[in-house]
Amino acid sequence: MTNKLAILPGDGIGIEIVREAIKVIDVLQKEFGFDVEYEIAPIGGAGYDAAGEPLPEATLKLARDADAVLLGAVGGPQYDDLPRDKRPERGLLAIREALALFSNLRPAILYAQLADASTLKPEVVSGLDIMIVRELTGGIYFGQPRGIRTLDDGQREGFNTLVYSESEIERIARSAFETAMKRDKKLCSVDKANVLEVSELWREVVERVGLAYPEVELSHMYVDNAAMQLVRAPKQFDVMVTGNMFGDILSDAAAMLTGSIGMLPSASLDENGKGMYEPIHGSAPDIAGQDIANPLATILSVAMMLRHSLDEANLADVIEKAVGKVLDQGLRTADIETEGSTVIGTAAMGDAVVAAMQEMGS
Ligand code: IPM
Ligand code: MG
Repeated sequence: MTNKLAILPGDGIGIEIVREAIKVIDVLQKEFGFDVEYEIAPIGGAGYDAAGEPLPEATLKLARDADAVLLGAVGGPQYDDLPRDKRPERGLLAIREALALFSNLRPAILYAQLADASTLKPEVVSGLDIMIVRELTGGIYFGQPRGIRTLDDGQREGFNTLVYSESEIERIARSAFETAMKRDKKLCSVDKANVLEVSELWREVVERVGLAYPEVELSHMYVDNAAMQLVRAPKQFDVMVTGNMFGDILSDAAAMLTGSIGMLPSASLDENGKGMYEPIHGSAPDIAGQDIANPLATILSVAMMLRHSLDEANLADVIEKAVGKVLDQGLRTADIETEGSTVIGTAAMGDAVVAAMQEMGS
């Protein structure tokens, strides 16, 4: 059956890195028998420019009808003054919500070839391979009530609500346990149960879900300690599961441990494994259009898509091996430059991955 993809480049470097990912998809189609059809649509600032909305109706429809979605990145300074509901980030939050993409998998893997790129000592990070499972459609990001109101004394007050229902906790816990089962069977649930009731319930439900996964070693950690442990001794972690906002923060810290946020893909999955795939990094408007951005996180997002949503693990292997080969050849974009390496641009990096794939195909 033909795999239908929705490709949403978004803003900033999103456009040029997605262009390289499309080269990879085209090679899979022409030379590896990948049956695929894709359509490109605007989201974020590009959506606003095209249709006055960060998530245009037509884009959402395309994404709904697709088997999987590939996203670049959203955001740019030219959109900073728009009202909140028109801002690029709103497009991202809206598509996560509309497609019920509640489970966000964010790997932090240190490539051996890039060990020097980390700001941490090599012995602390070498071999690092963590998976953060972040709840993505609940918690304080979406909780009601929310807003800014005026108090009796005339001053204003901002408020948001951190809320998780049992069913929301259950499904993200299940997703995390399933993820742990495919890895080293260690799961650390991160919360703030010493202060927050919502975390108390979170812990209780995660424990309960864990009864069905006796092989998984479950632990709990307060989020402040988890932040500290991530930079102190990150290799103690295999899979971490946490709520939306804690996951937002911890996944940035984890990504930076690898020294190469430009290398890390992510998956946001619904109940049926349909997903949206995107690099962990943002739209980097300061370097957009200069052919220096690293397309590898987006290319690796295609691999993640093949593995998690399209049941094409062999093709995912092809991409991941090709990326490994290119790194072995010493080719680097500027963000992952290491001693003795050759720095190349965005398009040349895409071409190098394509060439490595073609060598494998022939
Ligand atoms: C992320 C980003 C988004 C988030 C922003 C852009 C809304 O930081 O995907 O981590 O906070 O979820
Ligand atoms: Mg973030």
